[in-house]
Amino acid sequence: MKIIIINGPNLNLLGKREPAVYGNITFEAFFSKIREKYADLELEYFQSNIEGELIDKIQEVGYVYDGIILNAAAYTHTSVGIGDAIKAIQVPVIEVHISNVYSREKFRHQSYIAPNAKGIIAGFGMNSYDLAIQSFLTDTI
Ligand code: DQA
Repeated sequence: MKIIIINGPNLNLLGKREPAVYGNITFEAFFSKIREKYADLELEYFQSNIEGELIDKIQEVGYVYDGIILNAAAYTHTSVGIGDAIKAIQVPVIEVHISNVYSREKFRHQSYIAPNAKGIIAGFGMNSYDLAIQSFLTDTI
């Protein structure tokens, strides 16, 4: 099973960015742990701060992978383009957030991803990504 985690803007700063909200671990450290945990999976990771690069990656994997775990970060709340890309592709997308966006500012309650996502996982810290992987695995049983 081929799954990709796609992270949007500022998530390259995990570990040093607002640790009270996003925790202390870098994504690279987390990703190497999760890769070990799911050694049987083909797990990939892509991060960009650039909206068009995220759309290019969604289009590239969106007809060939088995699942996309997308934390579009701030673009979640603003990007019609990413929303349209998700609508266009065939691979199921799980929208993920580290923080509970619904307990934060009102502008974070809006998502252009959610209407076309298979599901949404938010507020479990980095474990949100793990739960998204598990949702793909339990699907196949
Ligand atoms: C985030 C929540 C977004 O509102 C924010 O802009 C982010 C991260 C999260 O993972 O909690 O950058 O997607």
